[in-house]
Amino acid sequence: MKVIRSVKEMTATSRELRNAGKITALVPTMGYFHEGHLSLMDKARELADKVIVSLFVNPIQFGPTEDLATYPRDEKRDLSLAQMRGVDYMFIPTAGEMYGSGFQTSIEVSQLSKGLCGASRPGHFRGVATVVAKLFNITRPHKAIFGQKDFQQLLVIKRMVKDLNMDVEIISHPIVREPDGLAMSSRNTYLSFEERKSALSLHSALKLAEHMIESGQNNSGIVAGKIEEHIEAHPHTKIDYVFIGDPDTLEPVNEIKAPVVIALAVFVGSTRLIDNAVVYP
Ligand code: PAJ
Repeated sequence: MKVIRSVKEMTATSRELRNAGKITALVPTMGYFHEGHLSLMDKARELADKVIVSLFVNPIQFGPTEDLATYPRDEKRDLSLAQMRGVDYMFIPTAGEMYGSGFQTSIEVSQLSKGLCGASRPGHFRGVATVVAKLFNITRPHKAIFGQKDFQQLLVIKRMVKDLNMDVEIISHPIVREPDGLAMSSRNTYLSFEERKSALSLHSALKLAEHMIESGQNNSGIVAGKIEEHIEAHPHTKIDYVFIGDPDTLEPVNEIKAPVVIALAVFVGSTRLIDNAVVYP
C-alpha cells in the first residue's frame, strides 16, 4: 500500500492508473476506521483494479462550534487496517495542501442540502460537496463508494455528480451496525457507558417505526410522535430532528403510501448521532 500526501503526486498517480487502463475506486473518509469504512473498502476491492482511500478531516464541513479539533484520529491504526483490507493507495493530504491560500470556490447542492442535517449544520453539505468534488478531480476514480449511514450526504453527492456531469459512478453501501444495532460511527467513541446504552434508542426507534408502518400505520405524524416518545424515554437524549419523507427528494411525507426514509439526528450527551432506514408500507 502506498501512502500519498501531496495533491501533485496523487494527481500524477491517478493519471498513470487511467493511462494504464486500470479501473479505480475511491472511498472518501475522515479516518478513525470502523467496520463501516472497511466494508466500503471491501466493496471497492470487489469492483476495481485499484482502490484509493482518502483520509482527510475536512475543516470546511465543520461548523464553528463543532468537533473539528477533537475529531478522533489514529493514522497509524488506520493505515494498518486499510493495508489489511487490500487498499492500494491512501491519500492523506493536509488542510494546507487541500485549501491553499486564496481558496474561494465551493459547490452548493441547494435544495437537497436544505433540510435535516443541512438545517442544523449550516454550510455542512457545501463543505462536503466541495471536498468530494476536489477528491474526484485529484483521484479521477471510475467509481466512488459512499455509505447509506449518511443518507442525505449520499443524495447530495449523487445530485452533484449528475448536475455537473462528473464522470464517476456513485455506489452506495448499506449501514454497518454493531451486534446490538448501533450504527457504527467514528463519533461513537465519544459516548460514555451510560450514553452508549441510550444511543441504542435510535435503532430501536427505527425498528418500532418500521413495525408500525408495516402493520398499516400510514400517518407519518403518529409514527414520528412514537419515535420521539421512545427516544426521549432514554436518559441523556435530546432530539435534533425526526424526519419522514421521500427517499429521493427528501420532501416530507404526511400520508405514507410509498417507501419513505426515516432519518434521525439525536444528541446523546453532547455527541450528535444520526441513523436512518428506508421503510416500505
Ligand atoms: P466519514 O464519516 O469518515 O465516512 C466515510 C464514509 O463511510 C461515508 O461514505 C459514510 O457514509 C461511510 N460510513 C460511515 N459509517 C458507516 C456505517 N456505519 N455503515 C456504512 N457506511 C458508513 O462521510 C464522511 O466521512 C465525510 O463527509 C466525507 C464524505 C469523507 C467528506 O469529507
